[in-house]
Amino acid sequence: MSPTRTADVLVVGGGIIGLVTAWRAAQAGLATAVVDPEPGGGAARVAAGMLAAVTELHHGEQTLLGLNLASARRYPGFAAELTDRTGQDLGYRRCGTLAVALDADDRAHLRELHALHQRSGLDSQWLTGRECRRLEPMLAPGVRGGLRVDGDHQIDPRRLASALLSACELSGVTLHRARAERLVVTGDRARGVVTTAGEELAAGQVVLAAGSWSGRLAGVPAEVLPPVRPVKGQVLRLTMPDRPEPFLSRTVRAVVRGSHVYLVPRESGELVIGATSEELGWDTTVTAGGVYELLRDAHELVPGLTELPLTETTAGLRPGSPDNAPLLGPTGLDGLLLATGHHRNGVLLTPVTGDAMARVLTTGELPDEALPFTPRRFGAPVLAEQSV
Ligand code: GLY
Repeated sequence: MSPTRTADVLVVGGGIIGLVTAWRAAQAGLATAVVDPEPGGGAARVAAGMLAAVTELHHGEQTLLGLNLASARRYPGFAAELTDRTGQDLGYRRCGTLAVALDADDRAHLRELHALHQRSGLDSQWLTGRECRRLEPMLAPGVRGGLRVDGDHQIDPRRLASALLSACELSGVTLHRARAERLVVTGDRARGVVTTAGEELAAGQVVLAAGSWSGRLAGVPAEVLPPVRPVKGQVLRLTMPDRPEPFLSRTVRAVVRGSHVYLVPRESGELVIGATSEELGWDTTVTAGGVYELLRDAHELVPGLTELPLTETTAGLRPGSPDNAPLLGPTGLDGLLLATGHHRNGVLLTPVTGDAMARVLTTGELPDEALPFTPRRFGAPVLAEQSV
């Protein structure tokens, strides 16, 4: 085995959550390393990048809403800081979102969402079908009504990942381009990992931030293994025409016959259409059925999109947790922390996750806003306490 290399913090996983954790930890003065065969990859390569705290609100997710809103509020400063640091444009666009309904069932669903917004003190405005089409003339004549949410924006997750990788490098984070094979635990404490190349990477604290793979690292005691599972999302990319009047000027989304579909128009001319939600293990095949359903539903909303070039089809894996919320902070094993389980909200929760993880890595305490997201909420026992 190669000689041990030691850091204060070793982050397992170089997706956006791992990278923001590493960047913020390095900024806080910790000697930080990331282990990932392809840092800057992961689910962010596929994600559409909606910052949709309000339009993606679900019943029973009030606690998560608080964290989502806290992160959304941080986005302007976070994006400006990252761009300042790296010189990279993140495609952060404060364009708002329009959620629309095509039939009576969709309309009832949207009315429910509006009522939930009102009960939660959130800003959204009910529009008639005609008002929706005035805002977005490419919408189908059959649109029966909609909710205008001017506070739900977007960012380009590929640019975000690339900028975070640069920021890490500029802040002195060591990048180990290797796969972590096994957690090293000695004396009831996590000490680092061994890579598939046989190198041991030692650290004072290990952060498991490997997205949907976070529950699969060998050597993690079963009691503290994060309960995350992969939730597959297929996503399409089209190119909008280059003309003075925009094809779409904001994110448009709907629930069509029970399936969520969204169209995210970027300033670059890319139109992202997502996403399926499939529980199929680690399968990332793009299927004819997935592409068909997305195009069928998107076409019902915006018939003119059949003229656009289809440039890319991809599938990624959301790290789903039992309550759809992330797992942040210390586990029951000393030296092992989690930053995973962000499910549908990884891009939105990037700023607040970086801040929370830097705080807990430097002080041992999570900030108040992140306390409800401790991995210990799933009842994992504290191993050290067990042994006394
Ligand atoms: N937040 C969008 C998705 O998970 O599809």
